[in-house]
Amino acid sequence: MKTRMLLIASLLCFGTMLYAANKVPTFVPQPESVVAKTGHFVLSKKTKVFVPQAYLKDLRPYIHTKFQSDYDLKVQVLGGHRTPSSNYIFFEKVKGNKDEAYTLDISPERVLIQATNYAGFFDALQTLRQAIERDQEQYTIPCMVIKDAPRFAFRGIMLDVSRHFQTKEFVKKQIDILSSYKINKFHWHLTDDQGWRIEIKKYPNLTAKGAWRADRTGITWWQRTAATAGESKVIGGYYTQEDIKEVVEFARIRNVEVIPEIDVPGHSKALIASYPELTCFDTHDFEVATGGKAPNNALCAGNDTVFDFLDDVFTEVARLFPGQYIHIGGDECNKTNWKKCPKCQQRIKDNDLNGEEELQSYFVQRINKIITSKHKKMIGWDEILSGKGAKGATIMAWRAWQKPDLAAPRGGYPTIMTNFHHTYFCQLQGPKSMEPEGPGATISLSTAYSYEPVPAELTAQEKTYVLGTEACMWAEFLPSEAHYEYMMYPRMLALAEVAWTQPALKNWDRFQEAVVHNFDVLKKNHVAYSTSMYTVYGSFALDELTFEGQVYLNTETTGNIIRYTTDNTVPTAQSEAYDGVFIVKSGRTVQAGLFNPQGELLGKITVFKVIK
Ligand code: ACM
Ligand code: ZN
Repeated sequence: MKTRMLLIASLLCFGTMLYAANKVPTFVPQPESVVAKTGHFVLSKKTKVFVPQAYLKDLRPYIHTKFQSDYDLKVQVLGGHRTPSSNYIFFEKVKGNKDEAYTLDISPERVLIQATNYAGFFDALQTLRQAIERDQEQYTIPCMVIKDAPRFAFRGIMLDVSRHFQTKEFVKKQIDILSSYKINKFHWHLTDDQGWRIEIKKYPNLTAKGAWRADRTGITWWQRTAATAGESKVIGGYYTQEDIKEVVEFARIRNVEVIPEIDVPGHSKALIASYPELTCFDTHDFEVATGGKAPNNALCAGNDTVFDFLDDVFTEVARLFPGQYIHIGGDECNKTNWKKCPKCQQRIKDNDLNGEEELQSYFVQRINKIITSKHKKMIGWDEILSGKGAKGATIMAWRAWQKPDLAAPRGGYPTIMTNFHHTYFCQLQGPKSMEPEGPGATISLSTAYSYEPVPAELTAQEKTYVLGTEACMWAEFLPSEAHYEYMMYPRMLALAEVAWTQPALKNWDRFQEAVVHNFDVLKKNHVAYSTSMYTVYGSFALDELTFEGQVYLNTETTGNIIRYTTDNTVPTAQSEAYDGVFIVKSGRTVQAGLFNPQGELLGKITVFKVIK
């Protein structure tokens, strides 16, 4: 009896060794539930992929391209369901899954993906792509069951292409990469003081003149002088309507809705330069701003021609963008001219408005009528809440200091959280002295990751107005593609997880490991990502009596080693490992770097002098 029990016990043990559940792959964003099983699915050129017939046209080229570029594999993608005995991936349309929810069940013989709509299948496919591993000479997928659904329906990125024009190829590249992290809204900031970027057939001056500005390259943004009429205007560019259609279609296949922004009534210098009669005082030449401040950039709110003009513009915009939203800006409107303009003042009188703030509400509400007449929903920055507000609008809550993240949902407005301190990835991501030129504030990767878009102060009912979140890439300091990408990645991975993953499942240690894994993916896709998460932050307190400094070093990542020197040499894997505050004499220079356990330097070297 005893021997039999031993035998059973050892068989059980052996069985567990043979059939231990798989290690779960790293995902960004982390799915709702992942249950590991045993065994692997082998992906090869014999693998057949079955997708619903209705999605074949879109999914076949996408899957072909991705499997080819990711794994150099040509799989067969077929419509409908003709199940072979094994080695197939089956996209099965089921009823009742909510919106983008999906399940992914991987067994050795087949991968079963269940979703209700295209969005769910596309998201599931991204999770599947992240689960594929290279195992010696073959690609395998560990068996597991994933059940997943997004926390928020709105998971966005805004690209400002006015301050620095970016090509449609660049835009498509970002849509392609970001959609693989389940970002599903692309907010395209197409107009601003420094350039109008969308062809409007009825008003050709908008791009003939408005898309071009005088060259001030090399002069810091806020110090640029205004252009003169006689100067040549060579910096800029715009998208033709054909370009726009191409981007919108590319995005559609990637489950991304494109939201155009035409920023009015402020931020309109490029528009005014093209059609000066639309401002309050058409008394002098206007030029597209070169950078810096752009005074006299508001459209006249008292002139009906302005609304007719915008109606025409929005007619063309609405035709080009099949999505549900049009963004009308509404931020930072300089009302100096409105105060002096007889037409604006007459409008205030005629409509019994209480000053220029309510004139802005009048303007925005009138634009809202235009937008809804085109069967679109209007989005505006939170400034449109001022005055009498903008009933019916969706709000992007950015001015953290004004608390629009409370005011907008409390006012019953659907709200997208774009908190300046957490989602403005145009801000630096490390110490100013170690980063390329940018605005003063810092949003480190961990700050971006720690963002909670739903304020705890809201009631359960008010919380239902929070649609999601979006990162904003204002581009004053982003002149090149590489700089743009450097600011977006890896912080966009943090935003992707903030927007998709339930808060209880967020975990910084797991996420930073996933980021390291995704550096390889980004590298393969030629993305110029930042490694600022490895920066060592140094600080010290100086003792005035002993002239000694107590030095404190810190980093946002875990699992690595800070090594430092105080003798003017560059730290190496052999340098002193930091294990808490240390003391140095005043006047010494501390140099510190972060090393992985293998002894490789991960980021840049931080250098600072301990001195009063
Ligand atoms: C904004 O940052 N002006 C919306
Ligand atoms: Zn006016």
